[in-house]
Amino acid sequence: MWSLNKGLVAGFLTCTLGSLWCARCVAQESQQSADPWWKHAVIYEIYPRSFQDSNGDGIGDLNGITQRLDYLKDLGVDAIWIAPCYPSPQVDFGYDISDYQNIDPMYGTLADFDRLTAEAKKRNIRVIMDAVLNHTSDKHAWFTESASSRTNPKSDWYVWRDGKGPGQPPNNWLSTFGHSAWQFNPKRDQYYYHYFYIQQPDLNWRNPEVENAVFNMLRFWLDRGVAGFRLDAIPTLFEDPSLKDEKVLPGKNKFGDPNESTELQENLPECHDVIRRMRSMADTYPDNRVLIGETYLPNVEELDKWYGGEKHDELDLPMDMQVGFEPKLDANEFRKRISDAETKIHGSHPLFVFDNHDNPRSAYRYGDGVHNKAIDQMLATILFTTRSTALMYYGDEIEMPTTVPTSKAQVKDPIGITGWPKEKGRDGERTPMQWNGSTAAGFSTNPKTWLPVAADYKRVNVEAESKDPDSMLNWYKKLIALRRSNPALHDGEMKMLDVGNQQVVAWSRTAPDGKVIVVACSFTAQPQVVSFDTALGGSGKTATTLAASGGAGQKNAVNLNSVSLAAFGSIVAEVN
Ligand code: GLC
Ligand code: CA
Repeated sequence: MWSLNKGLVAGFLTCTLGSLWCARCVAQESQQSADPWWKHAVIYEIYPRSFQDSNGDGIGDLNGITQRLDYLKDLGVDAIWIAPCYPSPQVDFGYDISDYQNIDPMYGTLADFDRLTAEAKKRNIRVIMDAVLNHTSDKHAWFTESASSRTNPKSDWYVWRDGKGPGQPPNNWLSTFGHSAWQFNPKRDQYYYHYFYIQQPDLNWRNPEVENAVFNMLRFWLDRGVAGFRLDAIPTLFEDPSLKDEKVLPGKNKFGDPNESTELQENLPECHDVIRRMRSMADTYPDNRVLIGETYLPNVEELDKWYGGEKHDELDLPMDMQVGFEPKLDANEFRKRISDAETKIHGSHPLFVFDNHDNPRSAYRYGDGVHNKAIDQMLATILFTTRSTALMYYGDEIEMPTTVPTSKAQVKDPIGITGWPKEKGRDGERTPMQWNGSTAAGFSTNPKTWLPVAADYKRVNVEAESKDPDSMLNWYKKLIALRRSNPALHDGEMKMLDVGNQQVVAWSRTAPDGKVIVVACSFTAQPQVVSFDTALGGSGKTATTLAASGGAGQKNAVNLNSVSLAAFGSIVAEVN
């Protein structure tokens, strides 16, 4: 509060016109510009194969993304993160990179990329690249060289080890994509380590030459003007050098392997040294280049370390996977996890995420089959009206379905083939974007798209939802616009309300000028009535509804003594 008032006074004094209106405007502007852009951003993940095909081969591409920038602008997106579009044999659909400093011809050229970033910039949209640093493709020139002998200059760029004996890998470590993490190479008569597919050998981050080469590659993209990186699988950079066996746990995993701990294979402290150096490197560039981490971690204390704890010298935004992925739809659990993200990260800024290209969409995971839309709308309320930076996945905004393959023969994602039927792979959440009701949903002129378009595309698509005021698309637009324009939602302090409530999670956001917004989200199908009067320190207070989801029970003016919420409803209201 103190600094705010000082800001106001300074604004007032420096303002030549001297009116209060002007002073506030100066104060607000300086406050906004002091924040890095990513703090209030809506970041939109694009899976490039599936967003828009521009040349009729049934696979999305960069020119397709460029064609759709006006749509993204209209939605209110500040930045796009593009999943890997580098040259790749596509074993892991781009996460197996064979050349870090180019674009796969399937997606276009570097010139197309430059045009995309330039056109995005005109619309105030930044471009974030996916940086896959744990591994390369086995077709990357670095690996070809490394695998060629035990003595070549890059022989130590990957994790090579002798077997325990003939036909025996160095230890019991497993790949997270199934079976042994070691692959034998006859030329070297050694094994190489791969935490993911066999075709994704892990780089040896204990070798300083690797870090040097990778940082140079990151500079190549930073020099090209990218706004930052989403760091793929970043906790997997290092492995325990002792190579001791992992603990064997009871039972079998989805691939039929024994369950094992992964503590020697991920989240090693050495990762943080690399990240600190990467942070310093990125900070030599202007405009707050952002470092986002793909950080599936056991708890918020571990998450805090990826920010650099109280030093704040590591990632800007390690993804919080506690809120959007772990819990079941339970009010107490969500309240706890949202509060943790607010209070246990040393004042860093949370990044919530409910959907991505690796998990069934949230409507599928949290839906009860009856109230899926209301549930999805309520989750969007959490995403856009807490303090968090918002990360969304293409198609969330139209409630695109998850279409799980029904037979092994249909599966494209290799883990779905190895793990069938217990693991059906990630095709379900990667289906083509549904733009309209025409052939291939407007995604491609080619009816044969790389994954089939979901069955509901005639009803669920951008064109149809644009015309329907009650659509998911319009709910997203409304929330995103509010978050941008309303000072309390944009940057206000956040406080949990009614914390004993078993069904409803609620909070307030307070703007610098004292204006208060209340948000309430119901986690049950039973209608709820909640009271915020006492919590907000008054009696008979009213509020004006800015947005409400879930159907019945919403009025324009609400009495804060009894706010009604329909099944899984949510409300955003400004206290009068
Ligand atoms: C990350 C990606 C996933 C990929 C894996 C290996 O988890 O999100 O799609 O398969 O890393 O690169
Ligand atoms: Ca194409």
